[in-house]
Amino acid sequence: MRWLRGSTAWLITRHGDVDAALRDPRLRKNPQEALTPAQLAAAPRVPKLFGPLQRNLLSLDGADHDRLRRLVHQAFTPKRIELMRHQMQELADELTDAALRRGSMDLISDFAAPLPLTMIARTIGVPEELTPRFRAWTRALLSVADRPLRGVAGVLRFMRYLRRLVEARSREPYDDLVSALAAARDGGDRLSNDEIVALLVLLLTAGHETTVNLIGGGMLALMEQPGQARRLREDDALLRPGVEELLRFTSPVETATERWAAEDLQVAGSTIPSGPGRPPGPHARLEKSQ
Ligand code: HEM
Repeated sequence: MRWLRGSTAWLITRHGDVDAALRDPRLRKNPQEALTPAQLAAAPRVPKLFGPLQRNLLSLDGADHDRLRRLVHQAFTPKRIELMRHQMQELADELTDAALRRGSMDLISDFAAPLPLTMIARTIGVPEELTPRFRAWTRALLSVADRPLRGVAGVLRFMRYLRRLVEARSREPYDDLVSALAAARDGGDRLSNDEIVALLVLLLTAGHETTVNLIGGGMLALMEQPGQARRLREDDALLRPGVEELLRFTSPVETATERWAAEDLQVAGSTIPSGPGRPPGPHARLEKSQ
């Protein structure tokens, strides 16, 4: 498969192979750990200003990842999760009540998209009056890959806002997620302000499209199979396993994030060479050009 600027990537699709690959310590999320200095120097550069965003849970391995998880975990206490569950229900009710009053709804723009965005804004502790600006920043963040120039300015403004928020909550804690992240300690260790900003940005990117896709794709699947939709409506006990099944059936995230091979490795009879992807070789017939 063609990947970043024409280099190649391997798409692993069989369950057993995927399971083994996800556990294989030779496949790293952090390219710094897999590529040589020369390969790193030749790789596309990430603008320096975005550097801090790269140290996030989805881009780290091993001890670095464990350290972040231990610290972040402290902020997600059972009490906070319960509160989030309650806020999520309230928000879902608000959005569906508004649709009922209007008499119609566009599932994506009236429900699936505002649900995760508003929820994450409230979880982070963005004041209600800033919500429209928060939405614009988020749009910039999510479009930065397609429209870099327009996106970059928005992302920078967004990062500046988040950095100020983290500084303010570190000085004067509230009962919110950012304050809890700033207060988290593991021995003498704590999250740096940049690490908190990177996590908040990750929550937005990881939590947004995934949720929109699950709701949109899930509803489409149910409309295509009215018998299944009827079973769900008639039996509340099926709702929870039904959502699990829709996660599997609709695959709201089609691929995991990319990994880099720190050593050559064999997967299902193919050799994945270490380092950055190379031009298509003998496996070209298995690859799909994008
Ligand atoms: C339908 C909803 C969702 C799906 C299908 C989904 C799927 C995934 C997948 C496949 C990964 C692993 C990616 C990889 O390792 O390459 C992941 C990681 C992650 N997701 Fe989600 N996600 C969903 C919702 C959310 C939400 C709502 C949030 C937060 C607001 C979130 C935050 C994260 C974070 C922080 C990670 C990194 C965890 C770590 O590496 O320790 N996700 N998600």
